Amino acid sequence: MHAWYLDDPSHPVPPERLAAEGILHWALPTTEAEWAAPLQAIRDARGYVQMDQVHLGPTTPNLDGLCQKFWEEHLHTDEEIRFVVAGAGVFDLRDTADRWMRVHVAAGDLIVVPKDKYHRFALDDAGTITCKRLFKDMGGWTPVPRATQTAA
Ligand code: LAC
Ligand code: NI
Repeated sequence: MHAWYLDDPSHPVPPERLAAEGILHWALPTTEAEWAAPLQAIRDARGYVQMDQVHLGPTTPNLDGLCQKFWEEHLHTDEEIRFVVAGAGVFDLRDTADRWMRVHVAAGDLIVVPKDKYHRFALDDAGTITCKRLFKDMGGWTPVPRATQTAA
């Protein structure tokens, strides 16, 4: 995981700064034999009872449409939890001063985007990612685009 401000790419953002914004991160191993147990421990500790897997890559139907959707700034009313199994991507997250923080994630990274935090997601140049999506329950998972909120 690497994090920086979009307007200041040469200075890494330390984990404490991310944590102050409610963004949590764990670096787990990259092979399932090694990450299975620590992932389960985190799921047990944080109540992430549901899990599924999503993949984005060149053969994904409607890849451009999906990527366009993920790139629209939005929030969720529950945490967004992603464990990267393979590939990579970037999460851009608004800090409390509305400044973009960029977090690059790759295999073994587990990231928690807190509820009500505006963010967007994109693939990186490698163009593919496989993620486990973890949930506390199946509620709270309608993305709320920023435009609809600011229009109100
Ligand atoms: C989502 C991510 C990609 O909402 O932000 O699925
Ligand atoms: Ni999201």
